[in-house]
Amino acid sequence: MNSLAEQVKQAHRITLIPGDGIGPEVTEAVVAILEAAGRKTGCSFDWHRHDAGADAFEKSGEYIPKALYQSIEQNRVALKGPVTTPIGGGFASINVTLRKKFDLYANFRPIKNLPGLKTNYPGVDLIIFRENTEDLYAGLEVMVVPGVAQSLKIITEKGSTRIAKAAFEYARKHGRKRIHAIHKANIMKLTDGLFLDCARKVAAGFPEIEYKEHIVDNTCMQLVLNPYQYDILLTENLYGDILSDLCSAFVGGLGLVPGANLGAECAVFEAVHGSAPDIAGKDLANPTALLQSAVLMLHHIDEPATADVVQQALEHVYGEGKTLTRDVGGSSGTRAFADAVIDAMSSTR
Ligand code: NAI
Repeated sequence: MNSLAEQVKQAHRITLIPGDGIGPEVTEAVVAILEAAGRKTGCSFDWHRHDAGADAFEKSGEYIPKALYQSIEQNRVALKGPVTTPIGGGFASINVTLRKKFDLYANFRPIKNLPGLKTNYPGVDLIIFRENTEDLYAGLEVMVVPGVAQSLKIITEKGSTRIAKAAFEYARKHGRKRIHAIHKANIMKLTDGLFLDCARKVAAGFPEIEYKEHIVDNTCMQLVLNPYQYDILLTENLYGDILSDLCSAFVGGLGLVPGANLGAECAVFEAVHGSAPDIAGKDLANPTALLQSAVLMLHHIDEPATADVVQQALEHVYGEGKTLTRDVGGSSGTRAFADAVIDAMSSTR
C-alpha cells in the first residue's frame, strides 16, 4: 500500500511528442509501461501530447506548433518519439530546431549491454557526450552559386567548454575513469583545434580523470577492434551523431540505445534511432530505446523507484528472452513486448 504522501503526490507534467513512423507505436508502448510502473510506486503522469513535423503541419500549418513550444517551456521535460526529416529539401529537422530553441546543448547517450541479450561485444559500457547545437549538424548552408554549395562549421569556445564540463562533471560524479575527446584537428585545425583547446582546459580541473584524444576516423576502427578501451567519448555534434549509431551495434542495435538532450532549463528525452519508415505501422519496432530514455527521464524528475521498477522489469524480459522483438532475434511485436515488461513488474518486485 502506498503511503499517503505518495498518494497525494502531484502528477508529473510531461510533454509527449509521439513523432511519426514508428514513433507513435513505441511511444504508446512506453507510456503504458510507465503508467503501470507508476501505479506500483505512487508516481503519476500528466501527459501533454503534441504533434511535430509533417503531421503537425497538416493539422496546424506549423511544423512545430506554438503550443508545443509553450508546453516544453512550462513543463521543462519532454519525452519524444522520432520525427522524419526530409532528405535533400523540405523543412528543417524538428530535432535540430528543438535542440537549438531550448539550448539543449548536451546530448547524453549511454551505450550499455542489457543483461541477458547476447551480442558480439558483451559488457560494453561507454557514454557519448555530444555537443548538440553547433558544428556542421546545425545545417547552416547556402548555395554559393549554382553547382557550389557551402555548409558552415561553427565551433565556439562557449559551446565546446560547456559540453566538456558536462562530460567531466558527470565523470567525477559517477566515478568514470577516462574521457577521450574525438576530433579531426589535424585537418580542421581551427574548429576542431578550438574544441580540443577547450577540452584540455576543462580536463586540467579534473586531474583524477584520464584525458586522451583520438582522431575520429581512427576512433571508428578502434571502437570496432576494442570498444572496452573507451569510457566516455566527448564529441562535436556530427561525429557524435555518427559514432552513436556505430556504438549502438555493440549492444544490439538502434532499438536499444537511449538518449537525453539536456539544457540548463529543459530536457528532452529521446531514443538515438529515427522514425524507421521501413518497419513503421507493422508492430515490429523495439520500444526499448525509448523506454530506456524514459528511465533516464524518471531519474531526471527524481523518480528513482519508478525508474528501478521499469529497468528491472525490462532486464527480466531480456533475461528470459522469450518475448523479444525481431531486431534482437525474437519474434514478438511491439505491443507483446510492452505487455511482457508490464507483466514482469509483478515478478520482479
Ligand atoms: P532509423 O534509425 O530510423 O533506422 C535505421 C535502421 O534501424 C532501420 O533499418 C530501422 O528499421 C532500424 N531501427 C531503428 N529503430 C528501430 C527500433 N526501435 N526497432 C527496430 N528497428 C529499428 O534511421 P534512418 O532510416 O536513417 O532515418 C529515418 C528517418 O528518421 C529520417 O527522416 C531521419 O531524419 C529521422 N531521424 C530522426 C531522429 C529523431 O527524431 N531523433 C533521429 C535519427 C533519424
